[in-house]
Amino acid sequence: MAAIKTIGVLTSGGDAPGMNAAIRAVTRSAIYNGFKVKGIYRGYKGLVEDEVVDLETQSVSSIMHHGGTILKTARCKEFKTVEGRQQAYETIKKHGIDALVVIGGDGSLSGARQFASEFDFPIVGLPGTIDNDLAGTDHTIGYDTALNTIMWCVDRIRDTASSHERLFFIEVMGRESGFLALNGAIATGAEAAIIPEISTEVDQLKELISRGFRKSKNSSIVLVAESPVTGGAMGLAERVRKEYPQLDVRVTILGHLQRGGSPTAQDRILASRMGAAAIDALLEGQRNIMIGDDDERIIYTPFSKAIRDDKPIDRDLLDLLRRLSI
Ligand code: ADP
Ligand code: F6P
Repeated sequence: MAAIKTIGVLTSGGDAPGMNAAIRAVTRSAIYNGFKVKGIYRGYKGLVEDEVVDLETQSVSSIMHHGGTILKTARCKEFKTVEGRQQAYETIKKHGIDALVVIGGDGSLSGARQFASEFDFPIVGLPGTIDNDLAGTDHTIGYDTALNTIMWCVDRIRDTASSHERLFFIEVMGRESGFLALNGAIATGAEAAIIPEISTEVDQLKELISRGFRKSKNSSIVLVAESPVTGGAMGLAERVRKEYPQLDVRVTILGHLQRGGSPTAQDRILASRMGAAAIDALLEGQRNIMIGDDDERIIYTPFSKAIRDDKPIDRDLLDLLRRLSI
């Protein structure tokens, strides 16, 4: 492998709190190790359209407490085409970038994998998404902050739910995964979490009602993962209105609230550790891997494995939720 002198860094896909801390850690750790650093704006779009700037140590000062990403992010259709990726490669050559650190979710790392194999180019990925849906890491950057935001919101909804003795379906993000819904439900003492992972096994709404919920309570909170597989909060509320008209049901969709805000200490620390680990990995000659945390240890997982759709939810947590909501 040719010696790496310059490292590019970009954020791609849905933004996540902690991405700035990751950019800072990548930049500073790279400079500490004698590399030059280039920041690419708007993810792969910035590679296709040549939006590249030099990053110095002071370029990343005072950013880690902000949500979002100073490099901006985007979704880029062109990068899904051979022509788009060729254009991106031209930008990389033009700026003398020898390796890339890509911070993003499942889609961004799929793009990284495709690009790395097509151009035999070294890329290290950092899992940056609130969804926590990447295999090869216990936690993704942004997940903990999103969970805390969900907790903050649900606590407030509980006040009105209990005053009016209502059932609330609160829809949370997560794409095809139920991590935010399940752990959000545990953190808020919710009645249940309706998640895509078990949608084919059981009618979760029926099960909820048949458990006799609300008998001894004056309100109920149910967290619903946004996936079409669950029916979403709206779909479930519609069903309740038809099938259980005696229940007074309301819906709140938390939406993009969950993506913003100052990152928690946990996300800042995780992003800092992972950002530095990305540079260590490149120094070790690693490529086409995602950095992850496994029981507090940094681990490397090949892109091919990290983006497979099989990160399982913890069934014990589902059980715990059922036990604690009696
Ligand atoms: P996230 O990274 O948050 O999952 P997306 O799924 O929107 O977000 O992916 C971000 C970007 O990654 C896409 O807009 C596209 O540019 C790129 N991408 C996703 N999948 C592929 C793929 N299979 N091949 C090439 N690029 C991809
Ligand atoms: O992947 C992060 C995420 O927030 C998902 O949870 C959600 O489904 C999606 O991005 C929303 O994307 P957009 O910001 O394009 O609406």
